[in-house]
This record gives sequence, structure tokens and C-alpha cells, in this order.
Amino acid sequence: MKKLLEKTHEAWLATLMTAFMAKNAKSKQTLFEFSDIMFRHFTWIEHDLIVRGMDYDYDRDHIPIKVERLKTMTDNLLSRISDLELLTIECEDENLRHRIESDLSYISKVIASIPDESVEAFDMNRKYGDVELSREATDALTLFLFEESYKEYELIMIYNYLKAHSDDEFINRIFQIMVDESFFHLRSFCQMMSDMGILGVPRVIHRSLYSVEDMESFLRDGIEEETAAKEQCRELSDAVAADSEELASFFDFINYQESYHIDLMKEALEYYTSSKSDK
Ligand SMILES: [Fe+2]
Ligand SMILES: [Fe+2]
Repeated sequence: MKKLLEKTHEAWLATLMTAFMAKNAKSKQTLFEFSDIMFRHFTWIEHDLIVRGMDYDYDRDHIPIKVERLKTMTDNLLSRISDLELLTIECEDENLRHRIESDLSYISKVIASIPDESVEAFDMNRKYGDVELSREATDALTLFLFEESYKEYELIMIYNYLKAHSDDEFINRIFQIMVDESFFHLRSFCQMMSDMGILGVPRVIHRSLYSVEDMESFLRDGIEEETAAKEQCRELSDAVAADSEELASFFDFINYQESYHIDLMKEALEYYTSSKSDK
């Protein structure tokens, strides 16, 4: 079951990365939908492990994605799926097992029919569409995308883990918003990376980051981090403003979204500190 979780985690990320590479709109859309379904499988398998009191973590293998043809990746996804199909036997919850098996059988059929295309997600062109950025702005953007795509993946995993281990409705509403919002940021940043020919899989996150023991200090640090992310967006918006109105307004938009994350985390912090003082 732990193996099934780990392999589902890898298949989810590999499918997501393939979606960023695909240029054909229909293939892209299909791959995004399938990666979402695999992420849901991941959360259900995780829930099953928790219910059974089994220890698990978010460790996974390195996921190689540097390909020149999309078919290399879709073939890789098919072999990942057939590995998963052998592992579903580990799943003791019969309903869940049937659901996963039937999803995977359909998903692999559709993935096998995705047309091949050339992949430009690794060509290091470092250009975003027809935007002409200065060398400094390009460097700032590149660095930002590498750091923040990892950060967003980390946040998805952390908030997902915390939510999986909590049955507090008030706090889980906030955690779910943070997961959803981080998904949007991850998708936006990775798509930009793909367009700029610098796509990369976020690195594995360490267990100490998500198995949070002290919620209050976690939230306090989180608020600080979100504030830093806001500042980075603002700086980036300034750096690209002279060259691209479109990019500048995009990073302002992300910056204002971070403000709401800070407000939510403050709300969560207040809830923790006040429920502690109630006791
Ligand atoms: Fe963010
Ligand atoms: Fe955020």
C-alpha cells in the first residue's frame, strides 16, 4: 500500500509534467484532467493508510522527463500505469481498488491514443512568447520560477498532509483553499517554465517539512514565507514592467493572491491560539 502511494505520487507528477510539455490543446487538457484524477487517487490511498494506522511518507524516486518527443513520455506514463495496475492488489478497500483499476484502465487507453509531437519544454530558449525581456529580467524570472515551482509543490504536499491528519472542519477549509491555490500557482509557473524551455520536476520534500508538530510556529513561519513570496512577486513585476505589461500584471495578480493566503493563515493562527487559551 505504501508502494502504491509512492508510485501513484510519481505517476501523478509525471502526467502533470507531460501536460506542461504538450502543445496540442486537447492532449494538454486530457493530461491535466488525468493528473488531477491521479492526485485524488493519491489522497484516497493516503486516507486508507491513515485509517489503517500505517506509517507512510511522501518520499519518491527521481522522475526523468527530459524528452524530445511526447511519445517517449506517454509511453513512460503507460508503463507507470501498468506498474500501478499490479500494485492495486495492495489496496484492501475493495471499492477504492475497483475505482482506481477502472480509472487506470480507461486512462491508459486514452493516453495510448495521444498524438506524438515534438517537445520544446527543455530547449533552454528562455523566452516567454514574444515578450522581449532584458538579460536581468530573464535571469530574475528564471530564478523565481525554479524556486517558486518547488515552493508551490511543497505547499500542496504540506497542506494536503495536514488536512489528511485533521478532522477539524474550520481548519480543513483553510487547508483545502491553500492546496487549491498552490495548484494554480504551480500550474502557472511550470507552464511558464515549459514555454521558456526550462521545465523541471520539483525536488522531493523532506518529511520534517510536512509532519508538523508545532502548528503555531508552523503558521507563523508560513506567514513569513508568504510575505517573502509576495515581495518576490512585487520585485519581479518591477523587473519586467518596462518590458512587458502582460507579465507585470500577472505577477501583481499573484502577489495579491498571496495577500489572501496570509489573511487565511492569520485566521488559522488565531483559531489555534484562541482554542488553546480556551482549555
Ligand atoms: Fe504562491
Ligand atoms: Fe501563497
